[in-house]
Amino acid sequence: MGYADVYAAWKADPEAFWMEQAQAIDWVTPPTRALNADNAPLYEWFTDAKVNTCYNAVDRHVENGRGEQTAIIYDSPITHTKREISYVELRNRVASLAGALRAKGVEKGDRVIIYMPMIPEALEAMLACARLGAIHSVVFGGFAANELAVRIDDAKPKAIIAASCGMEPGRVVHYKPLLDGAIELADHKPDFTVIFQREQEVAELIPGRDYNWHGFQYGVAPAECVPVAGNHPAYILYTSGTTGAPKGVVRPTAGHLVALNWTMKNIYNVDPGDVFWAASDVGWVVGHSYICYGPLIHGNTTIVFEGKPIGTPDAGTFWRVIEEHNVKSFFTAPTALRAVKREDPTGEFLKDYDLSGLNAIYLAGERADPDTIKWTQEKTGKPVYDHWWQTETGYTIAGNPAGIEAMPVKIGSPTVAMPGYDVQILDESGHPVASGELGAIAVKLPLPPGTLPTLWNAEDRFKKSYLDAFPGYYETGDAGMIDDDGYLYIMARTDDVINVAGHRLSTGAMEEVLAAHPDVGECAVVGVTDELKGQLPLGFICLNKGCDRPHDEIIKEVVKSVRDTIGPVAAFKLATVVDRLPKTRSGKILRGTMVKIADNADFKMPATIDDPAILEEIREALKPLGYANA
Ligand code: COA
Ligand code: AMP
Repeated sequence: MGYADVYAAWKADPEAFWMEQAQAIDWVTPPTRALNADNAPLYEWFTDAKVNTCYNAVDRHVENGRGEQTAIIYDSPITHTKREISYVELRNRVASLAGALRAKGVEKGDRVIIYMPMIPEALEAMLACARLGAIHSVVFGGFAANELAVRIDDAKPKAIIAASCGMEPGRVVHYKPLLDGAIELADHKPDFTVIFQREQEVAELIPGRDYNWHGFQYGVAPAECVPVAGNHPAYILYTSGTTGAPKGVVRPTAGHLVALNWTMKNIYNVDPGDVFWAASDVGWVVGHSYICYGPLIHGNTTIVFEGKPIGTPDAGTFWRVIEEHNVKSFFTAPTALRAVKREDPTGEFLKDYDLSGLNAIYLAGERADPDTIKWTQEKTGKPVYDHWWQTETGYTIAGNPAGIEAMPVKIGSPTVAMPGYDVQILDESGHPVASGELGAIAVKLPLPPGTLPTLWNAEDRFKKSYLDAFPGYYETGDAGMIDDDGYLYIMARTDDVINVAGHRLSTGAMEEVLAAHPDVGECAVVGVTDELKGQLPLGFICLNKGCDRPHDEIIKEVVKSVRDTIGPVAAFKLATVVDRLPKTRSGKILRGTMVKIADNADFKMPATIDDPAILEEIREALKPLGYANA
């Protein structure tokens, strides 16, 4: 069957399609039905099943003869460490950790926050939670204490599992002081923490609250896999929305297992036993789905890579890892390849490595620019597949289903909708537009298994953010079009979310930090185009009347407070002081127009603009920063 047949089969009978895919999962009690529409427009899948994620990702492979197969390869050029963990070792380590967590009171349904760098123990912590039916929430290491505190207050974890430190090129990230600061800031206090002490920096533990990862496992009985209901939350992953408060995306257990397992062959074209590598971070959805769960559920070998595309030690690192570990499918963000291309434009490093075992390169997380795709195709000689998805869905909405049929690549398009997704382009009133026309990208409800059923403790926000704009559809927040061949094109976000180096960030959250500065009267943060990172945040600040402090001093302070409040990952370094912001007559800030000016792109003068003269002032303010055709 080709792609068109598979998609048609899904569309003709979605429930039968997903019940068939569900057979690849080992259930404690198999589902009797696929879709649960009792509470529409909120949907669930496989509600009445009983299952355990860790069993499917780890134990069953040991029982089925894969015990000696490598489950995790840890490759850390930043610490000069390499290590392999077999499935049987992984099972034993995870069962022991889960046993220790249980001995301290963690049970099914309890939340556990995980704040760890790219080390295998991060995956073990996730799997230990899954083993107990505890709901983990992994927080990316590049966030500051305040962001961690916000997540602690929302998820209300019983425990927090962290490492003593993370390693960024040239600096140690002191996780423990960040964690202590976050617990101090948060209203909710966890019962205890577990600290994995790394040799690069050993953290001070607070007696009675902080336990040593190894020490607290002494003498405890390993935990067995606890069955949970199909709709039980496997995890919460916070992602940026329009406002400063992050959205807690809930991942349902059974659908997650079924859908991720399906993608491993059909999209990534790997068979059990093959090595699959996603060069992302466990703090992002790509890390959840394709460093941890997807490959392990499917019986693959996954790679935990602690390094950067360049500088650890050079722009040949990716190719080295692919050759050395015989990677069959490789997944990264376009920004990473842009960094490699910039450093090694002629692909000299590629000549040192044998990539013959590699089938294809997959890109996601941000728009893949044609130059980068072409460079990668040309230099590696491999197919490069862009695919489009979101934290909310957890896996591909549109992609190239290489395991079913490799579709011709159209550069600029992530290819076609995957089974499960009826993708439509809608106009402002919610009507489908003709092919080739731009509109809001929406997915007809219900979304497929594994996608978010709701937001953690925020059902109203879920409805408001995703369901209310277009009744009967899920609003993706992206705009784009579909061509005559059914290929999708993703053009822009329709909200205030920006994408910096493949990291999803909220300009609203940064504006909240800027606005809190005592000298700032008004502000706006927009995402301007950046050659390496895709977008960069840029702040416009209007000072309070009477403030005569030097502008560069104030800018330094706001840059520091974004770094201290949101974290280094925000990459907020550009800001300028202006007298006023361009607005519509009704007072809405014209952020889109400011982006166009910064990028020196054509734009139509907004009909509702209050005073067009302001735009010239904005242009002049941007020039010293190297923008607006400086
Ligand atoms: N913990 C702590 N700090 C982190 C971090 C982490 N896990 N990840 C990034 N940071 C810090 C960086 O050190 C940097 O700090 P600095 O301002 O002191 O230099 C800051 O956050 C910004 O990081 P980033 O935007 O990643 O830029 P960079 O200059 O460090 O690296 C690239 C540029 C392109 C090499 C890098 O962005 C990259 O590898 N991107 C790929 C991203 C990716 O795979 N995303 C997957 C999402 S699916
Ligand atoms: P995240 O939830 O962090 O994965 O970010 C999801 C958002 O990143 C999407 O809504 C898009 O705006 C953007 N995105 C992800 N993949 C792609 C892609 N292949 N092409 C264009 N934009 C993408």
